[in-house]
Amino acid sequence: MSTAPTERRTQVAIIGAGPAGLFLAQLLHRLGVHSVVLEARDRGYVEARIRAGVLEQGTVELLHELGAGDRLAREALRENSFELRLDGERHLVDVLGLAGVPMTVYGQQEIVKDLIALRVDRQGEPLLFDAQVTAVEGVTTDRPSVVYRHAGRSHTLHADAVVAADGFHGVGRQTIPGATLRSFQRDFPYAWLGVMAEVPPSSEHVIYSRHADGLGMLSPRSATLSRLYLQVDPGATRAQWPDERIWAHLRRRLATDDGWTLREGPIVEFSVAPIRAFVAEPMRHGRLFLAGDAAHIVPPTGAKGLNLAVRDVRVLAPALAALVRHNDDRLAERYSEDCLRHVWWAQYFSCWLTRLVHASDDPVEQRLAHAELRTVVGSLAARTLLAENYVGLSRAVAPVAG
Ligand code: FAD
Ligand code: PHB
Repeated sequence: MSTAPTERRTQVAIIGAGPAGLFLAQLLHRLGVHSVVLEARDRGYVEARIRAGVLEQGTVELLHELGAGDRLAREALRENSFELRLDGERHLVDVLGLAGVPMTVYGQQEIVKDLIALRVDRQGEPLLFDAQVTAVEGVTTDRPSVVYRHAGRSHTLHADAVVAADGFHGVGRQTIPGATLRSFQRDFPYAWLGVMAEVPPSSEHVIYSRHADGLGMLSPRSATLSRLYLQVDPGATRAQWPDERIWAHLRRRLATDDGWTLREGPIVEFSVAPIRAFVAEPMRHGRLFLAGDAAHIVPPTGAKGLNLAVRDVRVLAPALAALVRHNDDRLAERYSEDCLRHVWWAQYFSCWLTRLVHASDDPVEQRLAHAELRTVVGSLAARTLLAENYVGLSRAVAPVAG
């Protein structure tokens, strides 16, 4: 393979092969729009990066529509409810019964694998790994371009539009001038320690347990794999959290007074993720569009981040098609406003649920959140609202009309 610098052209340059970039590439492919996906990491790395697990029905259906849903149909877990625990009691939130829609648990890295296989192995469409974008240029003209490093050289990709689907730390958002972009951020005073354990799940559904020591969580991932989370201090390290300490905290925080027991097994992955809320407004600057975590981060408690990324690109794909094919900017003009309405709903819901199930150092907040969670589990109306938001049916955020 030549390592000489190249000048290349496409219709849409997509930065990042996370869920946002991969779903977008497929949606564009279906609309007959050419794109090139540039991913900084190698294939093995992105396929192994463990994050989200809970998918909204719309995300599941889109994966099927795009022709990448076969493995999900075989391997995903369908969950009709989740559980809230407090004071040793278990409270089931029957999302199927209350909101009419089930949830699906299927690891983000499995979706990433399925979409990469579809694009690279089945379609042979361009997706470059080890291609780190270093600059985005000319976005206020109709000839934008991205500069990237690949195989030790610098290359340029010219396009009609550029999409930064490069996550929270990506380069795309940073190229937007400060006078244009407004950022809203709240950092929570805790992080999530997450582990993957090779042990059959101790519950058939996701459990959020409020405990004075902090949140304890369990999410079944397959017949043999359990995902578990603990609320910890933001600077928590692996050295501070040997396996035995992790299991001791999980046992204590998830404990019930009806004899439920936690199954334990080898920990095969460990990570610590900060908990933050972040929104960048607007999500468009000229011919540069932000999508997914590049534009917004929600606390993971509401299981909304990946689903939001998918919703963004669903709105974006037809807008880009009209822009690059007919120079028709009308849908593109509405992209940011449409998405931000939905993003702020998800932000509200995720921050609310975060507050309900996490412990606080502030003794007043600690008691208020405990009282609120008790109210929620005791009220059919409140549980219904929770279930509707959890499955993503927010009537308050219908698309912007026009
Ligand atoms: P990313 O997945 O971050 O992908 C961005 C890609 O861009 C990466 O592959 C990165 O390598 C690449 N990139 C970055 N910079 C460059 C560059 N300069 N050049 C080229 N490529 C670049 N969401 C849910 O919906 N449900 C859940 O249950 C859920 N649980 C979560 C649990 C945890 C612990 C965490 C941390 C998150 C969770 N989320 C959940 C959120 C979800 O994982 C994210 O919202 C999702 O990854 C966003 O996808 P993305 O494609 O926007 O960004
Ligand atoms: C997960 O399975 O990783 C998961 C489940 C529920 C959440 C967040 C993450 O709210």
